[in-house]
Formats: sequence, C-alpha cells, structure tokens
Amino acid sequence: MSDPRPLSLVVVSSGLSVPSSTRMLADRLAAATREVLERDGHAVRISVIEVKDLGHDIVDATLTRFANERLQSSIDVLKAADGVIAVTPTFNLSYAGIFKSFVDVVDPGTFTGVPVLLGATGGTARHSLAIDYALRPLFAYLKADTVPTSVFAAAEDFGSATTAKDAASLDERALRAGTELAQYMARFAGITGGAITPTRARTAPAAASPGPAVDQRGRAGALDEFADFVPMGDLLGR
Ligand SMILES: Cc1cc2nc3c(=O)[nH]c(=O)nc-3n(C[C@H](O)[C@H](O)[C@H](O)COP(=O)(O)O)c2cc1C
Repeated sequence: MSDPRPLSLVVVSSGLSVPSSTRMLADRLAAATREVLERDGHAVRISVIEVKDLGHDIVDATLTRFANERLQSSIDVLKAADGVIAVTPTFNLSYAGIFKSFVDVVDPGTFTGVPVLLGATGGTARHSLAIDYALRPLFAYLKADTVPTSVFAAAEDFGSATTAKDAASLDERALRAGTELAQYMARFAGITGGAITPTRARTAPAAASPGPAVDQRGRAGALDEFADFVPMGDLLGR
C-alpha cells in the first residue's frame, strides 16, 4: 500500500570535483534506499544538497550568522527530512572542511533522531576508518540515528579500471546500507498499513517551561547546553 505522503530522503554530498565520486556514491546509496522503500510500497522524494554549490553562502553564514535565502531553503529541506544520506570526500583523514562548515550552519537539533546513512570517498581504501572515527562521532554528537552500515568508496571502486568484483562489492555494500536506511526511515515515520504516525515523538515542553522548542520528532531548534552561552567578547567586558 502506498503512503499518504512521500517520504523525504535528503542527500548531502560534499564532493568538489566534476564529476564527483562523492556524488556518484551518494546517488548509488540513494538509489538503493529508494529501491527498498518503493519495493515495500513507500513513495519517496529525493532532494540533493550539493554542498560545493553553497560554498560561498556557507562561508557568509559562518561569518555573519545569517543564512541567505538559497542556503536557508536547503536547510529547510534538511529540517523536513525523514532520512539523510551524508557523503563527504576524505580530506587529510577526516571529513572535508566544507562538509563540516555546512553542518555547522545548520541548527544542531536538525539531525536529532533522524535516520542518517554515512558515506565517504577517498583515494585509498586504507583510510576507510575515517568514517568511524570522524564522521560517526560527529553525528553521534548531533544525536542522529545513524544506521550501522556505512559505505566508503575508494578510487578502485569507480571508473573504467574497476574490476567486476570491486563493482559488485560496492553494489552489495550500497544495498545493505540502503536497506538499513529504508528500514529506519519506515520505522521513524511510524508507517503502519499506509498511515504515518510519528513514533519518535517526544513530549514538547509546556509553553511556560524553559528549554528549546522541540518538534514532534524530538528535533530541537537549539541545544540546551548552549542556552546560557556568553560570547567571549562579553566575558572580556568589551
Ligand atoms: C586536500 C585533499 C586531501 C585528501 N586527503 C585524503 C586522505 O587523507 N585520504 C584519502 O583516502 N583520500 C584523500 N584525498 C582524496 C579524496 O578524498 C578523493 O579524491 C575524493 O574521492 C574526491 O571526491 P570528489 O571526486 O567527490 O571530489 C584528498 C584529496 C584532497 C584534495
């Protein structure tokens, strides 16, 4: 049975090359997730955020604390996501700086409780653990519901020199990760028999109670721990 509304799958891809291996991996993961969701009768809408296209907007927002219209509309798409695929190139054994800068201009509560599939590309498969010691802790801090399987694709996974064995291995890993994300998304949206009811709803605080506003998915507009943040300039009496 088909869902009353399509599930929103948002792909965040932060490759810099054209064509981008990061985008190729992101598309592969999105296709696998879509395949499983549609096979199970769920309609899906996929939106892609190409971080490099927002590069200047992200730097401006970092400096001014104000997101322009183009950046804000991408942030709004992300805020309404039922699931996210986040893919970055590996730069110096970590996520790309532009990827982190994008995450930094998004409200930290945006990812709370949201199913997230992590992916990374790199020049060498020897750096594949960067996902687990850099990317995964970042999303753990953001309280995302990251799926257990992540996918790292190295140079040998793409291109004309790729062996049939390597290509099959990437397809298999993408399908496993996409299946997990599809299952998390269906559970997250509380889809039962075609009706969507939020299962992850956290009780929103009463109007008079302190603390950040929390939506039905438990996503907060701002993290509590920064509620009494005092800028360094104020501390220095300037
Ligand atoms: C500044 C820089 C640092 C890099 N550092 C690493 C690295 O530490 N490990 C790795 O495997 N690849 C590294 N690479 C290679 C990129 O991760 C790889 O080319 C990536 O797939 C490019 O993604 P794109 O095609 O989407 O732009 C680096 C590339 C650049 C430009």
